[in-house]
Amino acid sequence: MKKREVHIVGNWKMNQTLVEISQFFIEMSKMKMELKCKAWIAPQAIHISILKEIAFTTGSIQIGAQNCCEHDSGAYTGEISPLGLADIGVEFVIIGHSERRTIYGEQNSLLNKKVLLALSHGLKVIYCVGETLEERESGQTFSIIENQLDLGLKNLPAEQAKNLMIAYEPVWAIGTGKTATAEQAEEVHAFIRSKLTTQAEQTIILYGGSVKPDNIDSLLAKENIDGALVGGASLKAQDFRALCSSASTAMM
Ligand code: 13P
Repeated sequence: MKKREVHIVGNWKMNQTLVEISQFFIEMSKMKMELKCKAWIAPQAIHISILKEIAFTTGSIQIGAQNCCEHDSGAYTGEISPLGLADIGVEFVIIGHSERRTIYGEQNSLLNKKVLLALSHGLKVIYCVGETLEERESGQTFSIIENQLDLGLKNLPAEQAKNLMIAYEPVWAIGTGKTATAEQAEEVHAFIRSKLTTQAEQTIILYGGSVKPDNIDSLLAKENIDGALVGGASLKAQDFRALCSSASTAMM
């Protein structure tokens, strides 16, 4: 089944130097690709403005942030203001990535504040959920995801649901080379969709976790997988392009 819209979102995490960034875009521009899909990149915060400028000249790639603060301004040294992101024209922000949850101890209640504030500024939000291996093996996958959705999206204003996207990233599949099978991913994606109370059919649900050019097609063939949130493979122009090209083929 062909899709109306497919998103390939590169999460560059804390990678890429200026030289690597310019190399990436030189290679991307050489490839002259017909971008039908949405191609988004979230670089390190210090590179957002630079990427916005480069992306503006090369067209078609939208730039976002990997995280933001639960406050707009004030004495929060080192934080990233959602108001500031909106102010410089950033299109989207990733919230609740498993590395934020596990390494920095971000809880659902904090993430909920970030989600609501970012949405209130018109930013698109990619809210991440996912279970650990231990949770999967003890049969808790669905309850963990449900809890992350219930608490993280609490009090979501119905009129802002159109700017919300979900990324299902099983923690055990991130950076491990061990991707969930398309069937495993689809099962959770369908569950997530069934739990959304507004805009359920329209909400974009991305899969993330060791997505590569050689497994993207089987993932995108599934009804409830609307794109991918990609770490490692998004750092190389060749792979990112191959992912975008598969995504474009998966579209009507
Ligand atoms: P990998 O694609 O490197 O597994 O990372 C996934 C991820 O964390 C994207 O947000």
